[in-house]
Amino acid sequence: MNLPQSVKIVEVGPRDGLQNEKQSIDASVKIELVNKLTDAGITYIEAGSFVNPKWVPQMAGSEDVFTGIPRQEGITYAALTPNLKGYQRALDVKATEVAIFAAASEAFSQKNINCSIAESLERFKPVMEAAKADGIAVRGYVSCVLGCPYQGEVEPAKVAEVTAALLDMGCYEVSLGDTIGVGTPLKVSQLIKTVSETVATEQLAMHFHDTYGQALANTLAALQQGVQVYDSSIGGLGGCPYAAGASGNVATEDLVYMLSGMNIQHGVDLDRLIDAGNFICQQLGRSNGSKVAKAKTGK
Ligand code: HMG
Ligand code: MG
Repeated sequence: MNLPQSVKIVEVGPRDGLQNEKQSIDASVKIELVNKLTDAGITYIEAGSFVNPKWVPQMAGSEDVFTGIPRQEGITYAALTPNLKGYQRALDVKATEVAIFAAASEAFSQKNINCSIAESLERFKPVMEAAKADGIAVRGYVSCVLGCPYQGEVEPAKVAEVTAALLDMGCYEVSLGDTIGVGTPLKVSQLIKTVSETVATEQLAMHFHDTYGQALANTLAALQQGVQVYDSSIGGLGGCPYAAGASGNVATEDLVYMLSGMNIQHGVDLDRLIDAGNFICQQLGRSNGSKVAKAKTGK
């Protein structure tokens, strides 16, 4: 089997995991979570987003999170930014890098960012120009790559087109989001094959939500296609506010356990990771969504 020797884990829990939470979470809790994640060996963390606070109230305090994190060398503290205003907010609090987010579904693009796919790409251009001038790296996302909550089927060719557009405008990597977790392994393989006809597999990351329990199986399919970057959320926290019923990303603990079992390097200490997951789940007053954490600690 042709598998990568190592992968990079992008921890999205503090952003994708917490953005949907209705209860208010103090910035100090988010900061402690970020610190615990880096202590566990996570080197890339999406720590918040700079979107319209009326749309996603939980992320309104992202400034306090970014300014409160004691920065460590070699760690990327990234922020999600939908437009130039968001980019400037992120830059003001010294986000290490930013991510722009588009969709492969017109209907989702309208619901999530209030514009068409084409308009979103136009909106990203000034962000890309500013980031280039400031020397800030930009990651891209494409949502709904395996299905859309509003329009259903999404063509892999459309995913390929939007992915190529984001890379062409200067993103160094594009994360393919199964926003509502409907994908299954053979569809994942086919999607990556199609997208890789126009872009290098090395520039792809996968972002699997686990709504239908397919995320680890889909990860295996993507590993077999040579993808080396995976987004995951501590404790399996999360969901997208504009995708009803969507649950969190694959739990980072479960991803790490699977990678270790396959002798794929990831650089993360599982026990410390589980501590980080139990910490935030306790703060939220719920049980840990990671099966591995539950199996190892009974929480
Ligand atoms: P809009 O309403 O079309 O924006 O929203 P607008 O430019 O017309 O501005 C309207 C108001 O928003 C103005 O304020 C702006 O100043 C303000 P007002 O004059 O009414 O007081 N505004 C902002 N304020 C703070 N920061 C900003 C900002 N931009 C405008 N950056 C917009 C367009 C994109 C801003 C809005 O639709 C939005 O914020 N959407 C957020 C969507 C979101 O965060 N979704 C969840 C994250 S994406 C996700 O989870 C998927 C992913 O995980 C991958 C996957 O799973 O597929 C990444
Ligand atoms: Mg997501």
